[in-house]
Amino acid sequence: MRTIAILNNKGGVGKTTSTVNIAAAMQILGKRVLVIDIDHQAQATYHFGLSAGDVKFTIFEALKGEVSFDDAKIDRNGIDILPSKNDLKDLDFLPFPAKEFLLKEVMEKVKGYDYVLIDCPPSLGILTLNALTYASEIIVPLQLEFLPFHGMYNLFEGVQMVKQRLNKGIEVTGIIGTMYNAAKSINREVLSETDERLPGKLYQTLVRENVALQEAPSWGKTIFEYKSDSNGAVDYMNLTKEIVAQG
Ligand SMILES: Nc1ncnc2c1ncn2[C@@H]1O[C@H](COP(=O)(O)OP(=O)(O)OP(=O)(O)O)[C@@H](O)[C@H]1O
Ligand SMILES: [Mg+2]
Repeated sequence: MRTIAILNNKGGVGKTTSTVNIAAAMQILGKRVLVIDIDHQAQATYHFGLSAGDVKFTIFEALKGEVSFDDAKIDRNGIDILPSKNDLKDLDFLPFPAKEFLLKEVMEKVKGYDYVLIDCPPSLGILTLNALTYASEIIVPLQLEFLPFHGMYNLFEGVQMVKQRLNKGIEVTGIIGTMYNAAKSINREVLSETDERLPGKLYQTLVRENVALQEAPSWGKTIFEYKSDSNGAVDYMNLTKEIVAQG
């Protein structure tokens, strides 16, 4: 079972879009997939078309130990989802000791998936630390522009800290270039800079800028359900094949 945190503390870089559509591509490839939404914005949950009415319990109740994993998870056409909702932000205020380990405890006995993907919030706070304490891999979606590239070093420092104090074995297994537009020279420049400074980390497949990827969440659909012939669907499928081939 590969457990992968989709992480970047910068906001709006394509974490949720990548989590949802990689999960969907994995399912198409015959893999058993669990998506954990550990962002209090609950955007992966919404992207999958789950509304408050569909969700009886969320990851928040599971982390607090009030319900089991099985009670909180939802089967959405064959992809299992541990959904989130807004009150997850209150985890910060709960008086539990060693709060970084709550997700790991919830997941202790969970088996039977090929892949667990965790959609992280845009911060390195307690929710993200829960993801990083449990996961064994990190995949970083990166918008190929100057500030996001710069911010990634910040992120790597945070990951180093996590390796030292919480999870020795965790590794960054790949970087996804998102919202790529070959006509933008900054995209091409940052692409070659990333290749140079972090050789081998960037997936060959770049996810191109694609309107269908922006539209799909409002229909509660993955890109494969919404427009299976779009560039977004093609790119996420090729990218997912690369991720699957890694191990
Ligand atoms: N390849 C793409 N082409 C065009 N738009 C995209 C692409 N990928 C993502 N987007 C859009 O960019 C916005 C941010 O994407 P997304 O929500 O996936 O980022 P995020 O990193 O999860 O954000 P947050 O940090 O707030 O959780 C969304 O409106 C999304 O539809
Ligand atoms: Mg998100």
